[in-house]
Amino acid sequence: MKKTYNNIRGTLDFDASQALTFRAISDEAQRIFGLYGYQEIILPLLEEKDLFIRGVGQGTDIVERQMFKIEGKDVVLRPEGTAQVVRYYLQNSLHKKSDFHKFFYVGPMFRGERPQKGRLRQFHHLGAEAIGSDSFYLDAEMILLSLEILDSVGIKEKKLLINSLGCKKDKDAFSRLLKESLTKAKKQLCEDCLRRSEVNPLRVLDCKKEECRKQVKSFIGQDGSSNHLCSDCSKNYKNLTNLLKDLGVKYVHEPYLVRGLDYYTNTVFEITSSRLGAQSAIGAGGRYNNLIDALGGPSKPAIGFALGVERILLALDKKDDQPKVDVFIAIAGEDLREPAFKILNSLRKEGIISDYDYCQKSLKGQLRFAQKNGARYVVIVGDDEFKQGCVLLKDMEKGSQKQVKIGDLCSELTPAVN
Ligand code: HAM
Repeated sequence: MKKTYNNIRGTLDFDASQALTFRAISDEAQRIFGLYGYQEIILPLLEEKDLFIRGVGQGTDIVERQMFKIEGKDVVLRPEGTAQVVRYYLQNSLHKKSDFHKFFYVGPMFRGERPQKGRLRQFHHLGAEAIGSDSFYLDAEMILLSLEILDSVGIKEKKLLINSLGCKKDKDAFSRLLKESLTKAKKQLCEDCLRRSEVNPLRVLDCKKEECRKQVKSFIGQDGSSNHLCSDCSKNYKNLTNLLKDLGVKYVHEPYLVRGLDYYTNTVFEITSSRLGAQSAIGAGGRYNNLIDALGGPSKPAIGFALGVERILLALDKKDDQPKVDVFIAIAGEDLREPAFKILNSLRKEGIISDYDYCQKSLKGQLRFAQKNGARYVVIVGDDEFKQGCVLLKDMEKGSQKQVKIGDLCSELTPAVN
């Protein structure tokens, strides 16, 4: 038997109707990014491995376990966009050209995770990054922007979780305190948390296991990281949450939200959907006020987020749109193939979505094919009509048909299909 192939586990094939839904989501997101003043950048899928080690953090799941390396090279398939955007920003010295920049990007990301529902090895981000401002109004803009995109593509049921990790000083102090406390409870921690308590203690707050949560709670109480903010960070977070309240944005303060990437400081947020199961985050983001500095640039505050397109599709759980053809050209005999092909091309030139039979089907077979593929009209090129410079125009919805001069076909169809 000849060998056939399947797609790689954790990757998805989008069929034509899923691709149409995917495209509609990314088009709508691009419209809204534009409305908020974000400019699109398209960056490579390949980056230096070290960029993510330094950017995302040595002790993170992404760097420790999930990067797809290109064999024999210090190059990886990008696991996320933020470190990459900062690389682009610094490489082009954009900080010297303007003190504030806003970018958005749409594209695939790669993480070698154990695949499950909503957790893929190749997935797509709709992401935004704004570099050069520490204003809490910008934090609010990011949150509003992510919610508006989700709303607009049809995600009505969702929950916004926010927290503040504080500035680097706050975060480091909290991390130290947590590490000290966790060493006393080593026996009670799961294997993952035991490792994390050494390399990345904040991540222990993320653990969903009952015993680990109990231990963490006993050390840091209900307030998680937010109890450990300096007065500036605390005021900033209050300003943001008050603004969100004023704007009527519903949120849940989640003191245990720390996020799995090391670059975050201050505001972090996640948007979840109850329709997603275990992998409930549909999008997430936050401030990374020290990342630009850490990657060799000047000290610049920044914030961003990314939404996962495949998780949006899962949460929508709607029937995909069917790609449609406005007009199908059917021929009554092979000798009419060439004139019909010319008619097909003249319709396409007028922007009418048209198609034609390439498989030598009978007229009946062509009509069946047109109906199955949702053609709104069928143009039948028949011998008798063609001799008179005419075709038959069949309305597939109404079931009616009429004779139309070939020269009038475009003007007859244009208003009907628009
Ligand atoms: P992230 O939380 O790793 O953040 O990813 C953002 C979103 O991408 C998640 O909320 C989820 O919807 C989707 N996602 C992540 N991993 C997978 C996966 N394996 N399969 C399917 N979907 C996934 C970041 O990547 C940050 N760069 C976001 C950011 C931008 N922060 C600041 N700026």
